[in-house]
Amino acid sequence: MEVSPLLLSLLLLLIPSSAQMPGFVSLDCGGEEIFTDDLGLEWTPDQLNYGETAFIAVSNESRKQYSTVRYFPADPRKYCYTLNVTSRTRYLLRATFLYGNFDTNNAYPKFDISVGATHWSSIVISDANTIEMRELIFLAMRPTVSVCLSNATTGQPFISTLELRQFNGSMYYTEFEQQFYLSVSARINFGADDEAPVRYPDDPFDRIWLSDSVKKANYLVDIAAGTKKVSTKLPIEINSDERPPEKVMQTAVVGTNGTLTYRLNLDGFPGFGWAFTYFAEIEDLAEDESRKFRLVLPGYTELSKAVVNIEENAQGKYRLYEPGYTNLSFPFVLSFKFGKTSDSSRGPLLNAMEINKYLEINDGSQDGGVISSFVSHYSSADWTLEGGDPCLPVPWSWVECNSNPQPRIFGADDDFCIPLLGRKLSSKNITGNIPSDLTKLNGLEELWLDGNSLTGTIPDFTGCVDLKIIHLENNQLTGGLSSFTNLPSLKELYVQNNMLSGTVPSGLLDKVVNMNYTGNVNLRKGKTSGSRTNIIIGTSVGAAVLVIATIVSGLLLRKGRKKCYEHDQLGHPPAQGIHFSKCDAPNESAHCFSYAEIEEATRKFEKKIGSGGFGVVYYGKMKDEKEIAVKVLTSNSYQGKREFSNEVTLLSRIHHRNLVQFLGYCQEDGRSMLIYEFMHNGTLKEHLYGPLTHEQSINWIKRLEIAEDAAKGIEYLHTGCVPAIIHRDLKSSNILIDKHMRAKVSDFGLSKLAVDGASHVSSIVRGTVGYYISQQLTDKSDVYSFGVILLELISGQEAISNENFGVNCRNIVQWAKLHIESGDIQGIIDPSLDGEYDIQSMWKIAEKALMCVQAHGFMRPSMSEVLKEIQDAISMERDAGAVREGNSDISRNSIHSIHSSLNMGSLDLGRNDNFLSIDESVARPTAR
Ligand SMILES: *[C@@H]1O[C@H](CO)[C@@H](O)[C@H](O)[C@H]1NC(C)=O
Ligand SMILES: *[C@@H]1O[C@H](CO)[C@@H](O)[C@H](O)[C@H]1NC(C)=O
Ligand SMILES: *[C@@H]1O[C@H](CO)[C@@H](O)[C@H](O)[C@H]1NC(C)=O
Ligand SMILES: *[C@@H]1O[C@H](CO)[C@@H](O)[C@H](O)[C@H]1NC(C)=O
Ligand SMILES: *[C@@H]1O[C@H](CO)[C@@H](O)[C@H](O)[C@H]1NC(C)=O
Ligand SMILES: *[C@@H]1O[C@H](CO)[C@@H](O)[C@H](O)[C@H]1NC(C)=O
Repeated sequence: MEVSPLLLSLLLLLIPSSAQMPGFVSLDCGGEEIFTDDLGLEWTPDQLNYGETAFIAVSNESRKQYSTVRYFPADPRKYCYTLNVTSRTRYLLRATFLYGNFDTNNAYPKFDISVGATHWSSIVISDANTIEMRELIFLAMRPTVSVCLSNATTGQPFISTLELRQFNGSMYYTEFEQQFYLSVSARINFGADDEAPVRYPDDPFDRIWLSDSVKKANYLVDIAAGTKKVSTKLPIEINSDERPPEKVMQTAVVGTNGTLTYRLNLDGFPGFGWAFTYFAEIEDLAEDESRKFRLVLPGYTELSKAVVNIEENAQGKYRLYEPGYTNLSFPFVLSFKFGKTSDSSRGPLLNAMEINKYLEINDGSQDGGVISSFVSHYSSADWTLEGGDPCLPVPWSWVECNSNPQPRIFGADDDFCIPLLGRKLSSKNITGNIPSDLTKLNGLEELWLDGNSLTGTIPDFTGCVDLKIIHLENNQLTGGLSSFTNLPSLKELYVQNNMLSGTVPSGLLDKVVNMNYTGNVNLRKGKTSGSRTNIIIGTSVGAAVLVIATIVSGLLLRKGRKKCYEHDQLGHPPAQGIHFSKCDAPNESAHCFSYAEIEEATRKFEKKIGSGGFGVVYYGKMKDEKEIAVKVLTSNSYQGKREFSNEVTLLSRIHHRNLVQFLGYCQEDGRSMLIYEFMHNGTLKEHLYGPLTHEQSINWIKRLEIAEDAAKGIEYLHTGCVPAIIHRDLKSSNILIDKHMRAKVSDFGLSKLAVDGASHVSSIVRGTVGYYISQQLTDKSDVYSFGVILLELISGQEAISNENFGVNCRNIVQWAKLHIESGDIQGIIDPSLDGEYDIQSMWKIAEKALMCVQAHGFMRPSMSEVLKEIQDAISMERDAGAVREGNSDISRNSIHSIHSSLNMGSLDLGRNDNFLSIDESVARPTAR
C-alpha cells in the first residue's frame, strides 16, 4: 500500500532568526503569525505543511501561544520537528501541551515524545485546561535536534509550543552528558511573593522557577509548622548568570520552629539525578545569632553530616551558596527536611532548588548513520524528511525495523534496531545511482527500489548477507548481476525492464526461487547447470507475510515489557509465646458458656459464617436475642485446657471499640470455642472484592474511615497493652464491619492457641523472602500487614493473586510499588471508586502504605503515625468532597496553572537500602 505523501509527515523546520535572544527559538505550534508576548519573547508559527492545526479557547490573551495546537494522526508514525542547534552547546528544550479539548473529543490524549532516538517522556493529559510541560537539558552533538511525537495510546498527539534556550559556557555541564540528558524534575523558587513563576527576562536563559505558593495536588506538601516567607529588596551577589536569578534568591522560606520540611513528587523518578539547593542569607542576624542546619533525607545518613552555615559558606550575607549532588538516587516521592543544629539560634533557610533526572541517551538504530547518509542524497524529496531516527521510537514510514538478535549489554529496554528498507521506496521518483551506502546496511533483508529512475550499475551487495528480497525492476540500471551471486539468503530477485547486460550467473539461476530478468535486452541466461530457473510472477504473498512477521517481531521485541521485579520485603516469623497481661480492664475473667447454650444459640451449628486459621465460625442468637459469632477451634489449635483458659482470660481483658468484642468461651468434650459479638456486615475482604461488592461498592471516604477504625484497634493492641500484643494475622478478612459500617479488628491475641506459630502469620508476610531470615515478629510486622490492607483499600485487589498483577507478579505490594513509585497512582486505584476521591488524600494513603511495606521493620512507621496520616487524609477528603459537591464544574474555560513535569507530590524514600544506594564519592556536596 502506498502512503500519500501528505501523510509522510515530514516536518522540517526553517527556523527564523530570533530577534531578541541569541539561541532562543520559540515555536507557536499551529500559530499563524509572529508576535511578541508580554515577557518580550518572540513567538513564530511552526509553519509545517503537515499535521493539522486547531484553535482552543484561552482565557488570557497574554498567552496567545497556547491558543493554537498542531496535532497529528493517531497512527504508528512519528511526527518530528527538526531544530537547528550549534554543536557542542548546551540547551534547554521545552515542550508544552495544552489540550483545551481541541478535537472536541474529550478523550484526554496520551502519547510519547522523544528526542532523536531517546524516549523523553509520555505525555498524559489529565485536565483539558492544564498546561503539561516537559523540559530537557542536553548537549547538542549534531547540528540539528529532532523532537518527535508518536505512539498515541489515546487521542491524537499534539503540541502547543516548542522552545529552545541556549545556555552559556559550561552551564549544566555534567560528567555524564555524553550518555545522559538531564530531564528537569523540579525547579522551585521558595518564599515566592505570588504564584507567578520567575522566568525571562529575570532569568536570561528563561528557565522557569516555579513559585512554591502554587496550590495544587502533590506539589510541595507536608510543610512544617512555623514555616515563614522572608524576602529582601537588597541585591544578592550571584556572580554568574547561570545561577538562579536575583529575584529568586531574594525570597526564601525559614523554618522558625527549627525545621523546614517538604514532600513532592519527582516526575520521571525513581532514578539517578542531579540536585542543587541555593541559599543566600537574606535576614539580618544579630551578632550573637547563628543559622546552622543540616539536610535530612530518610535513608541518606551520609548526607546529613554536612552542616550548612550560609553566611560562612558563602563568605558573607546576601551572597549565594549552592551545595548540591551531581549523582544521587531519588525515589519518585521525595521528602526532605532541613533541621537546625542544636547550637543554632535560627532555623534553616532555603531560597531555591533544582532537581533533574539523568535520562539515558539512546544512540539510535544500528545503521542510522548509513540511512541518514542515504537519504541525504535525496534531501528535497518528502519521503526523506521524516526526521529523527530511522527506527526509534517508531520507524520511518518506508523503513521496517528489526530488533537485533544479539541483546545489548546495557539498557535491555531498547534493543538495537536494524532498519530494513521496506517496499515503500518503490515508485518514489528516485534518480541517480543506487547509493553505495545501502550496501553498508549489514542487516538489510529487503530492498525495494522498483519503479524509480535509477541509473548506473548495481553496487556490490555482497556484505548484506541477510538480503532475501530484491526488487529493482522498472529502472534504467546498467551493468551485470554479479553483485548478487554471493548472497546466501536470496530468494527473490526482480530486475526486469532495466538495461542490464551480460549473462545471468548460473549460481543465481540455481538458487533464487523467484526471479524475473526479462526486458533487459542485453542480458542473457548463462550456462546453466541443468535445470531451468524458476521464473515466477512475483506474487508477494510470501513476502508480505514475511514483512508483517518482521514488523510484528520488531514491535514485540523492541520494548521489553516491564516486569514487576522481585525484591525482598521482610516479614518476620513469630516470637514464640507472646504474653500480655496488663490491659486496661484487669480482674476480669472470661465468661464460660455451656456447650448446650451454644448448641441452642447456633441451632446445632446450622449457619456457617466464616472460617479462618483457627477454625470455623458459626452464627448464633442467644435467648436474650443477642447475636453472637462462635468460633469453633480446630482440635489441634490449642494445647492444654489450663493454658486455654488462661489465654482466654487474657483475651477477655482486651477491650476497645475497634476490636471485636470477646464475650467468652466454651470448652467441653474436647471442643474449644470462642464466642464473639456478631458483626452484621461481614469482612472488609467481602466488601472489597467479595460477593458484597456487587451490592454496593464502598466509597473512598468510607474506606478511609474503615482504615481509621482498624488502625485504632491495632494501635491499641500495640500501645494499650503491656507488653504489646502483636496481631500477626492482620488481613482484610480479619477486619469486620458492623451494622453502622464501622470496622473492628478480629482474631487478635490468639498467639498461644497456635501450635505452629508460623501457620498463623499472615500469608503475605510469610510469603515474602525475608520471612525465614529473621526470627522476630514485631509490631512492625503488623504495620506491614496493615500497609497491605491500605493497598487493598486503594485498589480493591486481593493481596495475592495469580492473575491480577501481570507477568511475574503475584503480590499486591510489588505491583503497587511499581505503579506508585513511577507516579502512576491511577493505575492501581479501584475503578469502582469511579473517580470520586481527592487525589491528594489518595496519594497520602498510597505513600503511607508504601512506607508500611518497607523492607525493614525499622523503616516502617508506627501504627500511631499511620493513624494520624489516615486522619489527615480523611479531613482532606471531607474538604474536597464538600468542594466536589458545591462546585462540580470548575471553570472549564480558564487555564489554571502551569502544571509541569514538576508534578509535585508526596513522600517516602525508597524501597530498601539498596535502592537508596549512594555512591559515597559523590555524596558530598559539590560546590559548583
Ligand atoms: C538550518 O540548517 C540548515 C542546514 O544547515 C540551513 O539550510 C537552514 O538555513 C538553517 N535554518 C536556519 C533558520 O538557520
Ligand atoms: C494574564 O496573564 C498575565 C501573566 O501571565 C497576568 O499578569 C494577567 O493578570 C493575566 N490576566 C488575566 C485576565 O488573568
Ligand atoms: C506505545 O505505548 C504503549 C502504551 O503506553 C507501550 O506499551 C508501547 O511499548 C509503546 N510503543 C512504543 C513503540 O514505544
Ligand atoms: C511552631 O511555631 C508556631 C508559631 O510560630 C507555634 O504556634 C507552634 O506551637 C510551634 N510548634 C512547635 C512544634 O514548636
Ligand atoms: C515523479 O515526478 C513526476 C515528474 O517530475 C511527477 O509528475 C510525479 O508526481 C512524481 N511522483 C511522485 C510519486 O513524486
Ligand atoms: C517478468 O516480468 C515481465 C515484465 O513485468 C512480465 O511481463 C512477465 O510476465 C514476467 N515473467 C514471469 C515469468 O513472471
